Amino acid sequence: MKASTVFDCNILQLPRIYSPAGSITAVNSNKELPFSVERIYYLFDVPGGEARGGHAHKKLCQLIVAASGSFDIIVDDGNVRRTFHLSRPYIGLYMPSGLWRELDNFSSGSICLVLASTLYDEEDYIRDYSVFKEWKS
Ligand code: TYD
Repeated sequence: MKASTVFDCNILQLPRIYSPAGSITAVNSNKELPFSVERIYYLFDVPGGEARGGHAHKKLCQLIVAASGSFDIIVDDGNVRRTFHLSRPYIGLYMPSGLWRELDNFSSGSICLVLASTLYDEEDYIRDYSVFKEWKS
């Protein structure tokens, strides 16, 4: 979505089923999420302080969750930048397509879980920020 802005991102409070023996959070396509999940991937073994994910997607939308630990997500629509800090497994950041994103400030041992609307497709990536700015204009 070329016209998306950083204000189309939403922090989603996911259901949390509490038990003294541990909590469960379940995420269903088209229920808690405004899209169907085609792929799940997760980042792990990220060294503390490392940065990742300087790219945009033309079509893919996603939910990003700090399944463990914490990190920052910097979202950029070509005009405005917003930073979200994720640190709870029952809080997700919904990101529509068409936004530049970077992840940084990973705590050691953190896990970044991503629920994505499409299978992996390199053609869907924009990996150059100046190309992204041109594509958005
Ligand atoms: P990439 O999305 O570029 O990660 P980041 O932007 O966080 O550094 O992916 C890194 C590598 O992993 C790249 O070679 C593509 C590969 N990859 C897959 O094969 N399948 C996937 O689902 C993902 C997310 C990445």
